[in-house]
Amino acid sequence: MLTILVLGSAAGGGFPQWNCNCDGCRRARSGDPAAKPRTQSSLAVSGGDGRWVLLNASPDLGHQIRANAALHPRDGIRHSPIAAAVLTNADIDHVAGLLTLRESQPFAVYATERVHSVLAANSVFRVVNPELVPRRAVALDRPYVPADADGVPLPFEIEAFAVPGKVALYLEDPTATGFGSVAEDTVALRIRDLNSDAVFFYIPGCSAMPGWLADRLRGAPLVLFDGTTWTDDEMIRAGTGTKTGQRMGHMAMSGPKGSIAAFEGLDVHRKIFIHINNTNPALLDDSPERAAAEGAGWEIAQDGMEFTL
Ligand code: MLT
Ligand code: MN
Ligand code: ZN
Repeated sequence: MLTILVLGSAAGGGFPQWNCNCDGCRRARSGDPAAKPRTQSSLAVSGGDGRWVLLNASPDLGHQIRANAALHPRDGIRHSPIAAAVLTNADIDHVAGLLTLRESQPFAVYATERVHSVLAANSVFRVVNPELVPRRAVALDRPYVPADADGVPLPFEIEAFAVPGKVALYLEDPTATGFGSVAEDTVALRIRDLNSDAVFFYIPGCSAMPGWLADRLRGAPLVLFDGTTWTDDEMIRAGTGTKTGQRMGHMAMSGPKGSIAAFEGLDVHRKIFIHINNTNPALLDDSPERAAAEGAGWEIAQDGMEFTL
């Protein structure tokens, strides 16, 4: 059996975002129960042996560990049930949490060569000592069984495959096609329980749904998918930014080219939006956009959700 914890469900910046005065952020800050605060997106998954693998390491990881008893130290004076962290890209909201895990505690880090090269190029990540915390490179489209720092395998398999997306903001090359993005910059994860064969997908960043991706997701029991924006231009209209969701590597939920339409007919049993930006009105429990997403069979992730498969 797989247990999946939603450690964080918001996009980069979280909800409310520290410097944002948009309607949603103001409501979240005021304690409005229909505008629940959310930390930056990350999951923890376990195959039931007491060890957990982080899927992305958010800047809010310290808070997320405190909020989830399953991730607390158990045995001895220094201990963590976190056996490994798997990164889907090099965005700040997905890697900065590694710095929180810097107290000489062994675990393993899995990512593509491309994402490892970003960690290697930024010496601050050396604070997570590679002697204790092995960095293991993952090839696209090759399922692997992750292991803890000592090499003890976990009871599930992970496959990383490239999805349409964009290189991290701080690595963009304005002169290059697609800002210099390559396939390894944005990956989806397919996780399969070795005991039960249960499968789920975690895709926090995705800018389009080509036919091959729709085919891959068809019939899946559970997909956690990029829910950054409701409409592509909402950050511009809200006055919080100058870019569209597409420009940032994300497909909107609504509209004929949106993810809600793209999933229609795919027969995905449980569809959950995650990595939701603070400008997305679907974050608000009482919004018409929330009702429309739910009407289309979607759930909006919130921190602390738990799934078993
Ligand atoms: C994104 O998902 O587009 C990035 O996390 C944006 C950011 O760096 O804040
Ligand atoms: Mn992000
Ligand atoms: Zn806001």
